[in-house]
Amino acid sequence: MTATQDPSHQDPGQQNSGHQPQKKYGAHDIPSYLDPNNLGPYEIYLEQVERVTPYLGKLAYWVETLKRPKRILVVDVPIHLDDGTVAHFEGYRVQHNTSRGPAKGGVRFHQDVTLSEVMALSAWMTIKNAAVNLPYGGGKGGIRIDPRKYSTGELERLTRRYTTEIGLIIGPEKDIPAPDVNTNPQTMAWMMDTYSMNVGRTATGVVTGKPVSLGGSLGRADATGRGVFVAGAEALKKLGMPLEGARVAVQGFGNVGEAASRIFHEHGARIVAIQDVSGTIHSSAGIDPAAALEHLRRTGSILGLPGTEELKRDEFWDVDCDVLIPAALEKQITLENAGRIRAKLIVEGANGPTIPAADDLLAERGVTVVPDVLANAGGVTVSYFEWVQDFSSFFWTEDEINKRLDRIMSEAFVSLWDVKERHGVTLRTAVYIVACTRVLEARALRGLYP
Ligand SMILES: NC(=O)c1ccc[n+]([C@@H]2O[C@H](COP(=O)([O-])OP(=O)(O)OC[C@H]3O[C@@H](n4cnc5c(N)ncnc54)[C@H](O)[C@@H]3O)[C@@H](O)[C@H]2O)c1
Repeated sequence: MTATQDPSHQDPGQQNSGHQPQKKYGAHDIPSYLDPNNLGPYEIYLEQVERVTPYLGKLAYWVETLKRPKRILVVDVPIHLDDGTVAHFEGYRVQHNTSRGPAKGGVRFHQDVTLSEVMALSAWMTIKNAAVNLPYGGGKGGIRIDPRKYSTGELERLTRRYTTEIGLIIGPEKDIPAPDVNTNPQTMAWMMDTYSMNVGRTATGVVTGKPVSLGGSLGRADATGRGVFVAGAEALKKLGMPLEGARVAVQGFGNVGEAASRIFHEHGARIVAIQDVSGTIHSSAGIDPAAALEHLRRTGSILGLPGTEELKRDEFWDVDCDVLIPAALEKQITLENAGRIRAKLIVEGANGPTIPAADDLLAERGVTVVPDVLANAGGVTVSYFEWVQDFSSFFWTEDEINKRLDRIMSEAFVSLWDVKERHGVTLRTAVYIVACTRVLEARALRGLYP
């Protein structure tokens, strides 16, 4: 058991001071289903909550709420393989918090998915949704499978059985999944169909990221990259750096990285380096992202694009640039490379690309980091638009969607920047202060049931 004292019995000044002995998330606080010696990605999240607790004032009374997911469902997913045998896969759905609305977050198919990882990703969704003030809690799901090794038919059976297993807890007003790593609009179409068959009606609002012909939203494909651009452009304004001619280096040239580079390029920035799984290209004169995409589609690699030179993988971190956009994987910015980064601004397109120690080093060096929970919130924002459009069965134009997205992202950025300035903290801590406050205010107002 972990207890917190009723705030009415405490001196509020003392609560605000941050000098109270903070109980580290030691073994006493760790639920038995996690290994206290190897907490995995959830430890990064717990550390972020520890950092923000001194700023929560009286709401710190409820902070344990943030440390424990509300609901965890672990399911067995058996399917017939094409060779006639039966295979079993481990599946998860975690609803980290639903104080502000239904859980919302993607489903990932990956051989290394763990409970700790799904817990962390669901918690980051709670923070992200609260940071941009979407009326959602946080959720995430995953199946431990390497999808490259299975046929389309096998993946369809897997998706349908998993959806049926987690059907107990998902629903348009309960928990709304979306695509994540190795899942896509087709996966969402299968999930929507399976859920609909089970409830006896077509329930388009049960998932987002669907194909447009099935109630998906225009603008969803570019939404995350577009949000990265809006957040980056606002940050440049605050730093007094011109967008026109800003030199940008991008890691990852997929959904997020490609769209972000294209939109930065369209607004006059210069893309000086791109790294993806095939390698790294560099050009001080600037790379045209459309040409890079065309080259990638034609040759299967970004390498060899005319007018660019190839860099060694590790040299990417030394590139002379103003803005760095990690938009590939987690844990890319580490203590080995954080000291070499020359950008004044990092905009995190990927989830969790910077390890906490590297984050501290960047702050010491005066590098501004727009954290993932703000910078890549454009995707879930347009998912929210999709859900609203499905409920009303009335669909908006792409122009309307982009305008609303730009407004939500830039207003969120400006208000979070003010909090950063007021408290003299990093933008990441500011985002956590605002998001955790919103979640815990809802918790305090709702009270404990029964
Ligand atoms: N797609 C979204 O809407 C969305 C929303 C929020 C966050 N994110 C996050 O953004 C990140 C990227 O997602 P995505 O949808 O663009 O994925 P994606 O699969 O479309 O693209 C990933 C890119 O990263 C590159 N990459 C892979 N391994 C690499 C390596 N070792 N070094 C350099 N590059 C490498 C790939 O070549 C590819 O270009 C992930 O962290 C994801 O969780 C995505």
